[in-house]
Amino acid sequence: MTSSVFRTKTVEESIRDTEEPEHGLRKSLTAADLTVFGVGVIIGTGIFVLTGKIAKEVAGPSTALAFVVAGVVCALAALCYAEFASTVPVAGSAYTFSYASLGELPAWIIGWDLILELALGCAVVAVGWSGYIRSLMDSAGISMPQALSGTQNGEFGFDLLACLLVLVLTGILVAGMKLSSRVTSVVVAVKVTVVLLVIVAGAFYIEADNYTPFIPPAESSSGVSGIQAPLIQLMTGYTPTTFGVMGIFTAAAVVFFAFIGFDIVATAAEETYHPQRDIPRGILGSLAICTVLYVLVSLVVVGMQHYTELSTDAPLADAFKSVGAPFFAGLISFGAAVGLTTVCMILLLGQSRVFFAMSRDGLLPHFFSHVHPHFGTPYRSTILLGVVVAVVAGFTSIDALAELVNIGTLFAFVVVAIGVVLLRRSRPDLPRGFRTPWVPVVPILSVASSVWLMLNLPAETWIRFAVWMVLGVVIYFVYGRQHSRLHLRRTRKTGDLGSHHSHH
Ligand code: ALA
Repeated sequence: MTSSVFRTKTVEESIRDTEEPEHGLRKSLTAADLTVFGVGVIIGTGIFVLTGKIAKEVAGPSTALAFVVAGVVCALAALCYAEFASTVPVAGSAYTFSYASLGELPAWIIGWDLILELALGCAVVAVGWSGYIRSLMDSAGISMPQALSGTQNGEFGFDLLACLLVLVLTGILVAGMKLSSRVTSVVVAVKVTVVLLVIVAGAFYIEADNYTPFIPPAESSSGVSGIQAPLIQLMTGYTPTTFGVMGIFTAAAVVFFAFIGFDIVATAAEETYHPQRDIPRGILGSLAICTVLYVLVSLVVVGMQHYTELSTDAPLADAFKSVGAPFFAGLISFGAAVGLTTVCMILLLGQSRVFFAMSRDGLLPHFFSHVHPHFGTPYRSTILLGVVVAVVAGFTSIDALAELVNIGTLFAFVVVAIGVVLLRRSRPDLPRGFRTPWVPVVPILSVASSVWLMLNLPAETWIRFAVWMVLGVVIYFVYGRQHSRLHLRRTRKTGDLGSHHSHH
């Protein structure tokens, strides 16, 4: 059994599977498309919503440092992702890469984990989007009934707008890649313009006083008890604190959400003309652009308004209101609402592609990997997941979900970094369009820094994550292991595998 759950799908097999017409996706993306894609999904709820909450409650002006910390963790992971993606250019991201290096069970685990990341991430963003739309509607004097406005102040409400957004985007994705990436480019332009507007216009309103103290002194977080405290604080027995130097790391573990998305660029590898060259460019390019923008935005916002006074719902827009510039505030709200649309869409896209790849491999039912004869998209997995996410977005509120998304993503980073090292050993011969520098130093640093951020998340997040992963392992042993295409292929022709597998 040990050997079968660690059976690997060779890189050649992965690429060959994509060449079967009925299961192949259409190639239509370039490096520029991928960078736009990356920026399109990276800039979202993280910077538009979480910045204010974190500055106010966890880190003060040093939130800018938290963005630097999270950015460094992501840069290390990106260097590993880029090598993987340029070696195994097929759909499925970390899932596919793990299948080719670590084996089937680890690959299943990572795929299952990615579904959590992308589905919940999409729901989080849809809920954030609906908040901005409602705030714009309020300015225009239109108000939604509370029962359809999402849960507010502990009172339950169905989030109708978030739910509708996800359903409409699902329709667009079913209709085809080309249409959605064209829409994406326009929306990304609007979003980046708004972010630049915050930085440039906001700079004129900065008051130096707001930067002191830059790292507010640590305070014991009364009211935060037991499983709500970061795991690292429970492990070391410290009284849970916020602010201070440790607060920067707690903040980094949360604002990490703002960087999620660069890994999703890799899920589009199969739809890229020159994946070996363009995937690494797309990943590293979009990550670099976003890191610079985030640090600047957070510095400007805490400079405009004292961190204790920031709003937690629409901090960027409200900072402009506080300095008496409501025109900019409206513009920013509008841009944020438009921008969050693409984030939501690309998360949805990434998740349907992971699901598609898992189904094509037989780990999930084959029914879902059928490609639409006219649109060339995996419409069944797209529709199934779209409906599930729409329901989740309708019924859940943001906070805890974002932390769960973060822990899942950081876990994927750990697996990918280990995978890079293992694949260098087992398949040194493979052409690598991009090679991670200083292997194994960079992968080791990537693992260590990702684990560090995970430890800064609340214990309850760890528990929820464990429950989801245990569920996944059960499904694998009940279904995936027997139905795996690789399993069927290996048992059918055990004789002629010698050439591919002599290295095992
Ligand atoms: N990085 C994305 C966001 O901030 C998921 O919304």
